[in-house]
Amino acid sequence: MIAVVGSLNLDLVVRVPQHPVPGETVLGGDTAHHPGGKGANQAVAAARLGGNVAFVGRVGEDDAAGVMLDAVGGEGVDTTHITRTRDLATGRALIAVDPAGENTIIVSPGANHRLGAADCEAAASLLQKAAVTVLQQEVPDEANHAAARLSGGIVLHNPAPATVGAVPPPHVDVLVPNRTELAALTHSPVPETIDDVVVAARRLTGAGAVIVTLGGDGVLLLEGTAHLHVPAFAVRPVDTTAAGDSFCGALAVALAEGRTLEQSARWACAAAAISTTRAGAQPSLARRDEVEAFLTGQS
Ligand code: RIB
Repeated sequence: MIAVVGSLNLDLVVRVPQHPVPGETVLGGDTAHHPGGKGANQAVAAARLGGNVAFVGRVGEDDAAGVMLDAVGGEGVDTTHITRTRDLATGRALIAVDPAGENTIIVSPGANHRLGAADCEAAASLLQKAAVTVLQQEVPDEANHAAARLSGGIVLHNPAPATVGAVPPPHVDVLVPNRTELAALTHSPVPETIDDVVVAARRLTGAGAVIVTLGGDGVLLLEGTAHLHVPAFAVRPVDTTAAGDSFCGALAVALAEGRTLEQSARWACAAAAISTTRAGAQPSLARRDEVEAFLTGQS
């Protein structure tokens, strides 16, 4: 079983010709609502890929809460430990996507920021049984630290979004930052080249393994003193929203199935590549048969 502790957001998405700079207004296209949130996306990604997934999180008492519970529960994710929170809104995200598929995201956390250690303690037996516990940074550190402490299996932490002052849990088996998050964690400039990424990732201590996601440049695996660069699959991206979430959900499934880190990372790269070819967060996430067919087409 895979436990995901994290955020649920209702995304409001608009396509823009280019991202605005401060003080600028740009006219975009039509708006669309999609279920999102890094936690919920990772849970749905894992469920679509065959994972048995349970979620620990919080929504508000508004209409968006029902949308999110239906979206996640409809994918077979166990929603028993998603708590409705009085007087708070469900998390929301405002997302702009440009013609290259690159996005900017503003999150209003709402009920996500009420998730605490007590919510994880209420789910302690679940976390103890989980083969993999998946964490991100759209909920308070307190919740992540408690979940990591209570987890009986592999702890996979995706330190997204890079948040000033956020402290990853001390017990992490696999840390999955992107370039920006790696820079934030190491208090250094965003690494440009693969060599720069290796140097920065080596400065991270406290995680069993580090996988840096590099978008179109693939991923960099670092375990002990060894590192390996796994190139990305060539696809034409439409919307990169949730590509990292797709990667983390797929990685969790593969690790729960006992695949090696390298095998898991390659499989997760395929799931992430597929997700970039479709619009929206959860609507873009791949099913297992799609990943298998995609990989067959690559060989
Ligand atoms: O990673 C993509 C997600 O980030 C979106 O779905 C949005 O809700 C924000 O959490």
